[in-house]
Amino acid sequence: MSNALEKLREQEARLRERMKKVKHKIAVISGKGGVGKSIITVNLAMALASKGYSVGILDADIHGPSIPKMLGLHGMRLQSGPPGVFPVKGPMDVKVVSMDFLLPSEESPVIWRGPLKMSVIRQFLSDVVWGSLDFLLIDLPPGTGDEPLSVMQLLPEMDGAVIVTIPSEVSQLVVKKAVVFARELKIPVLGIIENMSYFICPNCGAEINIFQSGGGEKIAKELSVPFLGKIPLDPKICESGDKGVPFIVKHPESKPAKIFEEIVNKIEKSLKEKT
Ligand SMILES: Nc1ncnc2c1ncn2[C@@H]1O[C@H](COP(=O)(O)OP(=O)(O)OP(=O)(O)O)[C@@H](O)[C@H]1O
Ligand SMILES: [Mg+2]
Repeated sequence: MSNALEKLREQEARLRERMKKVKHKIAVISGKGGVGKSIITVNLAMALASKGYSVGILDADIHGPSIPKMLGLHGMRLQSGPPGVFPVKGPMDVKVVSMDFLLPSEESPVIWRGPLKMSVIRQFLSDVVWGSLDFLLIDLPPGTGDEPLSVMQLLPEMDGAVIVTIPSEVSQLVVKKAVVFARELKIPVLGIIENMSYFICPNCGAEINIFQSGGGEKIAKELSVPFLGKIPLDPKICESGDKGVPFIVKHPESKPAKIFEEIVNKIEKSLKEKT
């Protein structure tokens, strides 16, 4: 066997061994960018952690890692030791790994291409010492192209995918692609979340549908996948992301926080039914 092949096998075996200690691996995907995958990943992680689970987030968005910023961890560096690379601990003890922790400066884009990029990511993933986790949430790069596909293929035995969409008709079209993407990878679709579903007026509390709300629910029915919930467009959600304090930690009694909790309960239930 050639050296390169041997190294590859060894990395894959190491990754598999490490992933065995993670009970549930869930990918957060979307057909297109900017629909709120990262902010939703962060808040779902916090909702799970507040139920007492040990949680990790893998920010697999190589070109636009945004999880560290949303958790107030931007600028941190990964520490390494003999067993490998240790994740950075964020709010509620959530363990975080992101390409952002490896980049030399804020402005540095990652310009590795194709196979080289994947080999760096494979190496990187096989080196991370997650330890025992109940949940690992994986925030994928946007879309259903080569990059999210390659990252997903590196990770063995995913438990499910959560698909994020916004309620415009254009987004509904790409949701179908995301569902097909998950199905092709043989990953069960845990459900669809409709983000920016409606706006809550900060003055009077009225709920205003900016887009035509309800598309997410309709498409879930059409595709026979569960509908997990509608998250409102709330300036405080955006602000919390920008300030690096997770929304549900700062506003645990708010309506959106309750919705995140309900979504987590649904995910828990459907994972229990599977086992
Ligand atoms: N429900 C919401 N209310 C207010 N702001 C939101 C909401 N959802 C997302 N945002 C904001 O919209 C922006 C885009 O969200 P986010 O980065 O999570 O999207 P994404 O799908 O991960 O994007 P990308 O595809 O680039 O990775 C962020 O600034 C985020 O804080
Ligand atoms: Mg993102």
